[in-house]
Amino acid sequence: MAEHVRVLLAEEDVDRRIQEIGDQISRDYEGKQVHLICVLKGGAFFMCELAKRITVPVSLDFMSVSSYGSATKSSGVVKIVKDLDEPLKDKDVVVVEDIVDSGRTLSYLLEMLKDRGPKSVRLCTLLDKPERRVVDVHVDYTCFQIPDEFVVGYGLDYDQRYRNLPYIGVVEFD
Ligand code: IMP
Ligand code: MG
Repeated sequence: MAEHVRVLLAEEDVDRRIQEIGDQISRDYEGKQVHLICVLKGGAFFMCELAKRITVPVSLDFMSVSSYGSATKSSGVVKIVKDLDEPLKDKDVVVVEDIVDSGRTLSYLLEMLKDRGPKSVRLCTLLDKPERRVVDVHVDYTCFQIPDEFVVGYGLDYDQRYRNLPYIGVVEFD
């Protein structure tokens, strides 16, 4: 079956919005250092773009989790595939995610990170699908709220493809 990607959010719009969120984070963390945690792989493209636009000191770390479930639906049981390199003690942490969907992965992850003694933890996401929420998660910084459609690009994949698209789109089957 042939497929194509319909553009939902153009590259310029995404870049402009990331700049705004970067400015906001720079203001909110003035005089502090922000420790960004990227949730691989989806969050990687967004985190790089965001980090370049933050003007306060930034440190970075990466983690990879997999949720037990099908490719398009998460179960909320999260396995750490790659843990952080650095401790979080007394750090001002911002978790950077590609998308908050049901909220299951994030609510589990945030609780686990809070147990490691950071000074603060906030959540920043490129995309949010509020209609899909099953578990309540507080999102501090959202670039875009989108309708309930399966999206790709800017780190998000469909069967591991399309992460490298510089825009956000919806996969359609011809
Ligand atoms: P949650 O636990 O349901 O919030 O799952 C979030 C994870 O599911 C994201 O980090 C993505 O990896 C994946 N996901 C959810 N919606 C989409 C989508 O529209 N496109 C691609 N991946 C998605
Ligand atoms: Mg993700």
